[in-house]
Amino acid sequence: VTVECAGRRISLRTMDTLRKECGSVVDEFTRLESSLSSYINKRNELSKTTESLHKAVKQERGQLTGLAATFKSTESGDLSVEEKEECAALRSKISDLRARIEHIQQELPVTNSGFYLSLILGSNLNVSLVSAVEKMKYKQEYETFKYKVTVAILVLVLLSYLFPWRVMDSISNFLMVWYYCTLTIRESILRVNGSKIKGWWVMHHYLSCVFCGVVLTWRDGECYREFRPQFLLFIFYIGCVQMMQHQYQTGCLRRLHSLGQGHEMDITMEGFSAWMFAGLTFLLPFLCIGYIFQLANAYVLYELYPKCEGEWQVPALSILFFIIAIGNISTTGLVIVRKFRRSNADVARLLRVRMKSE
Ligand code: COA
Repeated sequence: VTVECAGRRISLRTMDTLRKECGSVVDEFTRLESSLSSYINKRNELSKTTESLHKAVKQERGQLTGLAATFKSTESGDLSVEEKEECAALRSKISDLRARIEHIQQELPVTNSGFYLSLILGSNLNVSLVSAVEKMKYKQEYETFKYKVTVAILVLVLLSYLFPWRVMDSISNFLMVWYYCTLTIRESILRVNGSKIKGWWVMHHYLSCVFCGVVLTWRDGECYREFRPQFLLFIFYIGCVQMMQHQYQTGCLRRLHSLGQGHEMDITMEGFSAWMFAGLTFLLPFLCIGYIFQLANAYVLYELYPKCEGEWQVPALSILFFIIAIGNISTTGLVIVRKFRRSNADVARLLRVRMKSE
């Protein structure tokens, strides 16, 4: 059956199909709108709950701080043996609460992103990674980013060897300034979200950014030409060490994640520990060579200085190399010592658990 419409003949069956399809699209849209309004309600509810939890945590913290003074005044008084024992038990209960409040705080979105991120991104941008999966994905992405840019830097350094033009060096230096700046932002976001990255590694990346900036301003004179081959070799070496470091860090990340953060699983924790120490033992000699290289660069630049009148970059880079080397040596040293101590404590804990179960 057909009808005439605007001078054209349209089949009624086609009209029926059109009506049905339009109806289903409208129904789908109505459902979508109602889902959206339910999402908005839940989001508002979530932000209210988050706000009240933040207030409750703050209040609880205040009460815990107040308790410290009460403990002090009570314990300094004349107490019987039973009362002293009760005080000690209460103290341990309260210190357990302190640890648990830290954990609660970590589960909540961050309210203060710190000076650096507020300055760059604005203070009202939310940089919270709420779930553990989100945090892990962000960290993985950070490691992949480091890896890819390191490969690009290695390629550029090789090109600089092949084509010894200043413009090639400037391109790799520009890339490094951008890379280290980006790293400081990503690392600040990671730290705000509970990562245990040592302050020195972030500082190291700020300094590296300044360092590459200073190299960019160094004029293409005799001094620059003299130091250039050693500098390119150094960047190449550090790039290779960073690739090894990437293998180690992503390995740790994968294993820790599959162990469910590895805190409660003693036996698998032992396996993780063994893997981590094997990785560290492999990495350490290369790191040490890198640190010696940094000290040697500082020395060579220091020796070069009398020949390079008016080139302030020479002493500035020498000092920067020295500071970076000392910071790296002391931080890596502390990390290794702490890991060995903690590992011994873990082994002692394991032995205690086994002796109890035998
Ligand atoms: N840069 C960025 N993040 C780092 C880091 C670095 N150099 N070293 C450690 N971290 C991160 C870890 O990924 C971890 O993050 P998470 O809490 O989000 O999981 C956190 O800091 C704590 O790590 P930690 O347990 O202290 O050390 P590690 O086992 O991960 O790594 C080393 C130990 C020694 C291998 C590592 O610190 C390192 O490679 N240091 C040398 C860096 C260096 O000197 N570079 C210049 C090359 S010559």
